[in-house]
Amino acid sequence: MSKIKKTIEGYIARVNQRLETALPVAEGPAERLFSAMRYSVFNGGKRLRPLLCFAAADAVAKADHHTETAAASIEMIHAYSLIHDDLPAMDDDDLRRGEPACHIQFDEATAILTGDALQAMAFEQLATMNEIPPASQLELVRLLANHSGCSGMVAGQASDLAATGELLTLDQLKFMHAHKTGALIEASVLMGAVATSQATSQQLDALTKFARAIGLAFQIQDDILDVESSTAQLGKQQGSDLAKGKPTYTSLLGLDDARTQASELYAESIACLEPFGERAEALRYIAGFIVNRAH
Ligand code: IPE
Ligand code: IPE
Ligand code: MG
Ligand code: MG
Ligand code: MG
Repeated sequence: MSKIKKTIEGYIARVNQRLETALPVAEGPAERLFSAMRYSVFNGGKRLRPLLCFAAADAVAKADHHTETAAASIEMIHAYSLIHDDLPAMDDDDLRRGEPACHIQFDEATAILTGDALQAMAFEQLATMNEIPPASQLELVRLLANHSGCSGMVAGQASDLAATGELLTLDQLKFMHAHKTGALIEASVLMGAVATSQATSQQLDALTKFARAIGLAFQIQDDILDVESSTAQLGKQQGSDLAKGKPTYTSLLGLDDARTQASELYAESIACLEPFGERAEALRYIAGFIVNRAH
């Protein structure tokens, strides 16, 4: 295995370990809820946001146990966002990561509560961080709240629902993508850097630009895969966007232009990493994976 692949595997093992310890054991009166939390976190996500968090920490200083906490908190928010995204009232998708969606495997009420619980638990992780300067800890809480809530992911999800069946302009589509998906990707990168307590404002600026470019490329690739991949490969229903009348990069620009946009954004993201030199090797690798992935 190449050195970079080993680094990536190491990041994944570390966040998984942290999630394993944090999530409640499935027993007692709330067993169904706890089982659903575990089911939704351990059913084969790519862990891209935690990876970005670790890689950003290594670009600035060195990933440590604070990075693990930040990465786990982001993955909890991500898992909650997917559970709610699949609900009948939202995208009404039955399949997630090749398995029944949370509300199918359990039931709708449990799926709602599972999302609620994971969201609260994400913030609890950050609150229990010790040995980190209080200013950095508060900034982590602010970043996660800002990027996941009504200035970030939730606003994007609301604009996605409002846009269903509508024709959007490219700027409106960009707003939707930058919020529903881009915001959490930006939080992942920035939280990795902030958790080291060593990031300079120039580094945070460069990382913000990197994250915005690769975050948009990520959602463009998600739209492309919805068209050209298969349900088996995706682990989620292929063609779901078209069936639901979702405005996407492919519906607005066509496949070829969507692909061009994604590769331009990739190039832009890589250019932002120049000041980090060798230290940004993992960020470059993950950026490449984001635009070339098949699921
Ligand atoms: C899917 O995200 C949802 C979007 C934001 C488009 P991922 O493709 O990162 O999902 P998992 O965690 O690997 O399943
Ligand atoms: C989901 O976007 C974004 C969030 C969950 C915040 P999509 O609806 O495109 O994601 P998939 O395609 O269902 O994974
Ligand atoms: Mg959706
Ligand atoms: Mg969806
Ligand atoms: Mg999608």
